[in-house]
Amino acid sequence: MPLNLANTSAIPVTQETNVSLNRRELLISGAAGLALSADNAQAAPSRFHFVHITDTHIQPELGATSGVHRAFQAVKALEHKPGFGLIGGDLVMDASRVSHDRADRVFALWREQAETLGMPLHYSMGNHDLYGLGSEAEGKPSTDSPDYGKKLWKKRLGLSTTYSTFDHQGWRFVSLDSAGITPDYGWEGVLDLAQISWLDNLLRKTPRTMPMVFLTHYPIFTAFTQYYDGPEKGPTSGMVVKNGKQFREMIQKHNVKAVFQGHSHIVEEIEYLGVKYITGGAVCGEWWKGPRLGVHPEGFVSVTVEGQNLHWKYVPYGWNAAQHASA
Ligand SMILES: [Fe+2]
Repeated sequence: MPLNLANTSAIPVTQETNVSLNRRELLISGAAGLALSADNAQAAPSRFHFVHITDTHIQPELGATSGVHRAFQAVKALEHKPGFGLIGGDLVMDASRVSHDRADRVFALWREQAETLGMPLHYSMGNHDLYGLGSEAEGKPSTDSPDYGKKLWKKRLGLSTTYSTFDHQGWRFVSLDSAGITPDYGWEGVLDLAQISWLDNLLRKTPRTMPMVFLTHYPIFTAFTQYYDGPEKGPTSGMVVKNGKQFREMIQKHNVKAVFQGHSHIVEEIEYLGVKYITGGAVCGEWWKGPRLGVHPEGFVSVTVEGQNLHWKYVPYGWNAAQHASA
């Protein structure tokens, strides 16, 4: 690929390693940039597997609990055992506009099924996981209630934060919290200021050659509204992270391999500047009423990492919603 120093601030050194240097770094490092690529390839002889499971929307109705159980059995039956799961949010249907009892009941269903996976799980919160939003919530809690908003989710999952990071075989994983609450108690996709500051600090401490993977419920990039509403329809903050451009610019000089996304329940990959933005379908398909839009089956994503490369495939687990329509 020819390098155009005049028109770019981020120059791919090789497609193989996806290491990026800005113009100043390239001028300083010169031929050392190529040595960096080789060193980097040697430094990460990783080989591991994980799963991205999103939008389970577990509930007592429509056979959803059996469906999640079957999906998790399929995860455990994968040829290559996943070391951990990235859980993309909307665990339950629903916590946001229901009574406390109902929210507790569906979170309990989630925990029961999640235990059967028998692997570490890393979470990004979904909009349906927020508790006590909307005027129709039964016994709507005040915003300073101990369970309001993100607090019930944290409590029921035993988590102290809504965004986090961990390292695995030389790769750095980051779970984002993109589930925002609007002033009128609605949903929106956003990374708040405190999280942006945390992420900025994390990126400063992360070597630019270190492979990174992000998890978010609301997509950074998706063409969903173009598929669904028409090519001239752009997404709003109801569909994507409204400051996703800021995020994209923040990660631009890092070795980010993939951003796993949920929310729209479709299967999609958009690759931009070497980063795969992967929307990983939904365990629930069209909220347990069949494949999403009739064409994206109920499933999850199986991921393999080899060296510096990440490969993924969508795994439908054979759910037939019609057999459970009256359950
Ligand atoms: Fe969802």
